[in-house]
Amino acid sequence: MKLHNNTILITGGTSGIGLAMAKRFAALNNKVIIAARSEHKLIAVKELLPEADTIQCDLAKPADIDKLVHTVEQQYPQLNILINNAGVQYNYDFLTEPDVHQKAVHEIETNLTAPIKLIAHLLPVLEQNDNAAIVNVSSSLGMVPKANAPVYCGTKAGLHIFTKALRYQLNHTKVFEVVPALVDTAMTQGRGTGKISPDRLVDEFIRGFERDKYEINIGKVKLLRMIQRIAPALADKIINGKG
Ligand SMILES: NC(=O)c1ccc[n+]([C@@H]2O[C@H](COP(=O)([O-])OP(=O)(O)OC[C@H]3O[C@@H](n4cnc5c(N)ncnc54)[C@H](OP(=O)(O)O)[C@@H]3O)[C@@H](O)[C@H]2O)c1
Repeated sequence: MKLHNNTILITGGTSGIGLAMAKRFAALNNKVIIAARSEHKLIAVKELLPEADTIQCDLAKPADIDKLVHTVEQQYPQLNILINNAGVQYNYDFLTEPDVHQKAVHEIETNLTAPIKLIAHLLPVLEQNDNAAIVNVSSSLGMVPKANAPVYCGTKAGLHIFTKALRYQLNHTKVFEVVPALVDTAMTQGRGTGKISPDRLVDEFIRGFERDKYEINIGKVKLLRMIQRIAPALADKIINGKG
């Protein structure tokens, strides 16, 4: 992949991993478009990156996705990279959580349905442009599940296998998956130890992206996946704090 002069839509580009990607791609002389939910975060990111464009969009709302697609088709027909990064994780117990249905649907809509819908709608635009790519941000928890986040793990496992199948289907548009373990962001505040910074993730992602490495396992994910192949029960124990 060429790293310069692209037009890149990054969902969830106002915080954490998405923001670090937005900053890096803007510094590499790309047109960056950031779509996220919260208006005040979009204003803050515009102050930080005046050259980026921002679009308010709640990806869990079908009407907002339709509006985002329409805006991209009308204003950015040169779009050649779509980064599906926005995501939410809720921790809950199916026996005690009163809001299981609402939380589960929200995780599925945001983490799995939205990326698939955006790809379905924006693929005709990507296919018309050179150096075209889709980048889906999944998670090590889509490979090895964590007990207190079953739906999150399910959405990321779904995104992983969807990404792989789509890669086999498409020729012109390259399909990448970024598989992070713990990264120090708002999502992981108060959770876990041994986190890496979003900038370190982006360093690794960019190296893989440039070399057309389609499945980019970040940091400890490489070792975790190796352990999972050899001793799956041990990998489960490591993720659930009993290894
Ligand atoms: N942090 C980790 O350790 C880790 C590990 C593995 C995978 N990941 C994945 O990496 C991605 C980024 O996570 P992060 O850690 O950077 O989280 P983060 O700092 O919480 O950022 C999440 C971003 O997604 C946006 N977002 C959430 N729901 C949205 C919605 N319904 N519509 C539009 N935008 C929405 C947020 O914007 P608003 O706040 O405005 O909604 C924010 O910009 C996620 O897919 C996550 O699952 C993270």
